[in-house]
Amino acid sequence: MLQRKDLIDLNGLSEQEITAILDRAEEMKQRLRRGEKNGTELKGKSVITLFYENSTRTRVSFELATAYLGGTPVHISASSSSVQKGETLIDTGKTLDAMHVDAIVMRHPMSGAPVLLAKTVSAHVINGGDGMNAHPTQALLDMLSMREKFGRIRGLKVAILGDIKHSRVAKSNLFGLTTMGAEVYMYAPKTLIPKDMDKLGAHIASSREEAVEGADVVMGLRIQLERQQGGLFPSLGEYSKFYGVNENLLRLAKPDAIVEHPGPVNRGVELTDGLIDGKSSVIEDQVTSGVAVRMALLDMLCNAR
Ligand code: CP
Repeated sequence: MLQRKDLIDLNGLSEQEITAILDRAEEMKQRLRRGEKNGTELKGKSVITLFYENSTRTRVSFELATAYLGGTPVHISASSSSVQKGETLIDTGKTLDAMHVDAIVMRHPMSGAPVLLAKTVSAHVINGGDGMNAHPTQALLDMLSMREKFGRIRGLKVAILGDIKHSRVAKSNLFGLTTMGAEVYMYAPKTLIPKDMDKLGAHIASSREEAVEGADVVMGLRIQLERQQGGLFPSLGEYSKFYGVNENLLRLAKPDAIVEHPGPVNRGVELTDGLIDGKSSVIEDQVTSGVAVRMALLDMLCNAR
């Protein structure tokens, strides 16, 4: 059971709550594998995807999750909404509430925007990614793919490499994975790693080899070119050479280690083509996990009260 109105971040969720979401998501993933898309859990419920930033995976998977459970998905993009006429986020929220929507999934470039919306509306609010802050459903789906492969999360060594500074995925994974008992190692150029990640429970590796050695999971992160001011690393080629993950590096991980990436991938930068398409990669499985996690979450939030 998830006794919450909203899901804004994994910070503050208990191990029991995360386990309950993953358990329900596992059931949903079995349904997807059987081709069952005619659930009724969200019958009569409307779910808005309110996206102020581009998205393929998050937006489509929330909309499909709603449809697969019998609900009505409605998409609003900032570029074609009354936001373009100067409407504030709070007024947009109040307008949607007046239409009796059940849940709003929001992606926004400003950290903290989903909290503001959640305080304003009576609909459930799910954070679909806010600025550099949090992307809770991405971390949940990453954990679902890990748990499916290893049967547990406790005790796993997870190496996260890449643009940690600008990554909401890295931060949500750190909260989720440490709550679930995994050891999280991070490695990035010094300019791309925030100072206090160790205080939040991360082991900051001094080399990518230290991060990956003996790892069960190696996660590459997308270089967030759109969020950078420039000058944080010399070039994409040098980034790939010194901070990317390649086949030689992966040999230091456990023989059955998996490779994850939240997508979209800059091929040949964060990960080599061979790793993205190789047998260790679970990147496509993560996408399926994304639909399953979002089905579980919508069901648990919308039907808890
Ligand atoms: N991983 C992720 O959030 O992808 P999208 O930007 O395509 O939603």
